[in-house]
Amino acid sequence: MINPDSDNQKERDRLHSKYSEMGLRGYWQLPRENHEVEPKLWKWKELRPVLMETTDVIRIGPDAFRRNVGLITGSKTISMGFQIVLPGEKAAAHRHANTALRFVVNGGGASTTSNGEPMVMEPGDLLIQPNWVWHDHVNDSDEPIIWIDALDAGVVSFLDASRFRQEWAEGKQQPLTKSGGASRRLYGPVREQSVDYHGAPGVPYHYKWRETLEAMQESADRGSQDPYDGVLLEYKNPITGGHTFLTMTCHIQMLLPGQTTRFHRHTGTTHYHVVQGDGALIVDKHEAKEFTWTEHDSFTLPPWRWHQHKNNSATEPAILFSVTDRPLLQMTGLDREEPG
Ligand SMILES: [Fe+2]
Ligand SMILES: [Fe+2]
Repeated sequence: MINPDSDNQKERDRLHSKYSEMGLRGYWQLPRENHEVEPKLWKWKELRPVLMETTDVIRIGPDAFRRNVGLITGSKTISMGFQIVLPGEKAAAHRHANTALRFVVNGGGASTTSNGEPMVMEPGDLLIQPNWVWHDHVNDSDEPIIWIDALDAGVVSFLDASRFRQEWAEGKQQPLTKSGGASRRLYGPVREQSVDYHGAPGVPYHYKWRETLEAMQESADRGSQDPYDGVLLEYKNPITGGHTFLTMTCHIQMLLPGQTTRFHRHTGTTHYHVVQGDGALIVDKHEAKEFTWTEHDSFTLPPWRWHQHKNNSATEPAILFSVTDRPLLQMTGLDREEPG
C-alpha cells in the first residue's frame, strides 16, 4: 500500500539503512552522472621544468618503479603521463595487464626493450606494448629522454584485471634476444603465414618518425583532407590493419598553414600532444573556449563537445599526435559523431 507520507524523510532513512544492511540500493539513490572530463591544456614551458625538477627529487628504483608524472585529465579510460629517464638510468623489466604506448617528445638514443628486442627511441617515434609484453628502459645516451606514456589503466582497473603483473625474475633488465627492428620485420608486410595472431591483444611494434612524417607529407601533397582534422593518419595495428589497440588508438595529423577545420563533436575522450607548430583548439560554439598551443604542449578534448582545430601560422604546418578511447565506444556501439 502506498503510504501518503512516503516523502517522509524518516521513513526513507529507515528504508535506506535496511537497504545498506542488505547490500541493496534504490535507483533514486544513484548519484547524478557527472562529467568529470573538461578541456584542459598543459603548457610545455611550465611542465618541462617540473619534470626536470622531479629528476632531482625522485630516483628510479628507490623512490619509484617508474619516474612517470601523470596529467590529471579526468579520463576514466586512458592515463596520460610523461616519463623521464636520465643518462645512465635503467627502469626495470616488468609486464602487466595494461596496454601501453610511448611517444618520444625530447631526447633520443635511449632504448626500450620489448620482449627481448631493443627499440632505440628517437623524437616522434611511437612504441607500442600491448598487454603482457615485457618491457624495460635504459638510457645509454648522454641526454635525458622524455616520452609520453599512455595506458588503458582505467579500463583495466574498471574490469578488475589489474592484478596480472609480473617482474622479470632474473635481474632488472631483460637479455637482448632479438636484433633491432625485429618486430618490424616479423610483423611487416613480408611475413610468415603463421603470423596472424587472431584474438591476441596486439604485438609490440616501433613506428619510426621518419616514415610517419613521410607518409603524412605525401598525403598532404596528394591533397588528402579530413574536414575536421586536416591531414589525418591512424597508426594501424600491423597485424590486423585495425586500430592501434583494442582499447585505444593513435593518430598523427597535420594542419596546413592557416587552416581552420570544421566543427564537429563525437563521443570518446582524446588526448593531444603538439609535435610542432602554433595553433588552437576551440571548444564549444557558444561561449567558445580557445586553448592556444605551441610545441610540446598537451591538451585533452572531452567527449561530445563541439570543437575545431586551428593552425595559427600562415607559413608553417602544425602537427598533432593524439590518442583516443574511441575504439571502446565503437566496440560497445556507443560511437556517435555529429557534423557542425
Ligand atoms: Fe610498464
Ligand atoms: Fe574531433
